[in-house]
Amino acid sequence: MGIVYLRGEYLPADEAKVPVNDRGFLFADGVYEVTPAYRGRLFRWDQHLARMRRGLAGIAIDFDAASLREVKEELLARNGLTDVPVAYVYVQVSRGVAPRSHAFPDPPVAPTVYGFANQYHRPSMDRWQQGFDAVTVPDQRWARCDIKAIALLPNVLAQQAAAAAGVTDAIFVRDGMALEGSHANLFAVFDGVLTTSPKSNYILHGVTRDFVIELAQGLGIPVEERAFTLAELQAADEVFLSGTTTEVRPSVEVDGKKIGDGRVGPVARALFEEFLATVGGSSA
Ligand code: PDD
Repeated sequence: MGIVYLRGEYLPADEAKVPVNDRGFLFADGVYEVTPAYRGRLFRWDQHLARMRRGLAGIAIDFDAASLREVKEELLARNGLTDVPVAYVYVQVSRGVAPRSHAFPDPPVAPTVYGFANQYHRPSMDRWQQGFDAVTVPDQRWARCDIKAIALLPNVLAQQAAAAAGVTDAIFVRDGMALEGSHANLFAVFDGVLTTSPKSNYILHGVTRDFVIELAQGLGIPVEERAFTLAELQAADEVFLSGTTTEVRPSVEVDGKKIGDGRVGPVARALFEEFLATVGGSSA
């Protein structure tokens, strides 16, 4: 049982208790961040912090997220994760504890901050080389997917659809466009061009997405940020997902149909190798 952070204290997870009137519990009224740590070093903290600040501002929670760096580092240390290849640290901030009433508490109450850290187990390179699979699901989320809100019911149902189908990932489709995964961003390769949905309110602006685009640019792979349809996705040469708990994960089969020749493609492979070289990882 790990050590978690709750309302200013570090304590064993089974001793951490949230009041029933917490608005995170009652309304999913809060935002969260998941930051990877490679050998104990937080990866792209500034970008994660900036996104959390935008999210907090977007739902009008007054909280200084800069203080979370120390919490994240302390969680890594207290859970013995400073030396593991990859860990990730979760932190959520809810609007706080107040009797149930839809509008914000007035006067405001102190936000509730909760965090935990876990090791991430990267698949072996042999497993990765086989590729993964996905199903598509209708995107039933709200129109502010750019806010990393803790309200994740559509994402939960999407991932459950993947679990029920016995596949690894779920891909959201809205108005015919294949946008992103249930907890990862989506890339496709068309004639050598790496393509991903533009940053809009309909996707989460993934930190790993930005990283993958930078890696592609460094490798001289052309990148286009444009929305693409489900039909295009099905006809793509390659499809893969990116995210903190996904890294670079190729989908070689979507909705039971092969992508390209059904094998992991050269662009995903080159990007994952570069990804590992940059974060100092090993795929074994
Ligand atoms: N999810 N899109 C969605 C809907 C996500 O939930 C996530 C991350 C991403 C990738 O973002 P990033 O590269 O910054 O991790 C894209 C986290 C990991 C989660 O919900 O657990």
